[in-house]
Amino acid sequence: MYSTHNNQNQLSGIDPVRTALGMLSSRILGRHKPLFVNIEPTHVCNLSCTFCDKHEGPQMSTEDGVRLLHELAAMGTVSVCFDGGEPLAHPGIGELVQTGRRLGLAISISTNGILIPRRIDRIAEANVVKISIDGPEEIHDRGRGSGNFRRALEGARVAQARGIWVALRMTLAEHNVRAHRAVLRIAEELGVQALFQPAIGSLFDASKHQASHSPHVTAYRETIDDLIELKKRGAPVANELVALRHLRKWPEPNPVPFCGGGRVMAAIGPEGGIYPCGRVGRGQPAPNAIDAGVARAFEDVLRPTDCASCWCTLTLSNCYAYRLDPRLLEGRLLSPFLSTDWDATLAAEADPKAETDAAGLVQLRRKRPSGETVP
Ligand SMILES: C[S@@+](CC[C@H](N)C(=O)[O-])C[C@H]1O[C@@H](n2cnc3c(N)ncnc32)[C@H](O)[C@@H]1O
Ligand code: SF4
Ligand code: SF4
Repeated sequence: MYSTHNNQNQLSGIDPVRTALGMLSSRILGRHKPLFVNIEPTHVCNLSCTFCDKHEGPQMSTEDGVRLLHELAAMGTVSVCFDGGEPLAHPGIGELVQTGRRLGLAISISTNGILIPRRIDRIAEANVVKISIDGPEEIHDRGRGSGNFRRALEGARVAQARGIWVALRMTLAEHNVRAHRAVLRIAEELGVQALFQPAIGSLFDASKHQASHSPHVTAYRETIDDLIELKKRGAPVANELVALRHLRKWPEPNPVPFCGGGRVMAAIGPEGGIYPCGRVGRGQPAPNAIDAGVARAFEDVLRPTDCASCWCTLTLSNCYAYRLDPRLLEGRLLSPFLSTDWDATLAAEADPKAETDAAGLVQLRRKRPSGETVP
């Protein structure tokens, strides 16, 4: 199974040259183009997690979704991520994934993983699935409901068996803020990487940085500090170091110079509203990509200049890339010098007697996946 991860560059499906040219053209010439697009085909979900307010609501028709994909491909979009709600709960998800791939788009799916086994034949052409894992079984299920940890892991294994690149995504909330090491161990066992982000107040209002389900700030910052340290020791943390340092400032407003939202990124909701990214502008009237066509709607999309709420792990990396920030390379430059037995080292440090056990585990462990950014 591990051999599938040696081809991660190909599996992500993202053309680096087209991406770089598109970014430069937007930054230097002001020719904006939605290179990275989140489509939310549905806000319906099979779960109702304790920290999430985006799990019920409208659904896009498959026909409209297919038309959007054609228009995006014609505009030069590189990558589409299906998000939600739960995108695998959309009855047309197979047709959407297959259409996107036929059009040459890199396709990823952001999912709770539960429906992967049932949908696998229809979504097998997807390049990447990002599966939410919020801790070990008991903690994950506390936020997401009983039995859903095992279902999510089964989804990860089924996707891997079909050659889809899997990444884990952990949302750090009040109930799981210290469970990041368990998620990293699961990632290591699967031979994949994990992404981390804070649970903000609302997915529909980026200015709500915090709510009662959010993590305690001190515990959260200790966790981010630990993630930075663990990444430097070779743990499979997918966030870039510069992005982790940015996230560490949450919940204090933290402006992102050169936001890519509405310039090289866009998000399209189930009713066709087009936004700079998944989280900003949601409460306001927005141009409609289904009614007006994507190209026309994208001309009028909100282009934030003073957003200080970039707490989503995926948009954040794109903003730092858009800024041409050389610190994005830091992790990659470090990567040849990193050890791959990070948790064995930590276990040995914590308890010298643990060395034998930990060393035994290391022998079973597969090589860490490459340091490529999860798309
Ligand atoms: C809205 S979900 C949609 C995809 C899928 N249903 C899932 O759970 O992965 C996308 C991501 O948002 C995260 N999320 C949910 N509520 C959040 C919140 N209040 N703050 C930050 N992220 C949140 C989820 O954990 C997941 O990683
Ligand atoms: S986080 Fe995902 S799985 Fe959980 S309720 Fe929200 S949309 Fe559904
Ligand atoms: S800074 Fe980040 S969160 Fe804010 S609009 Fe830009 S991409 Fe979205």
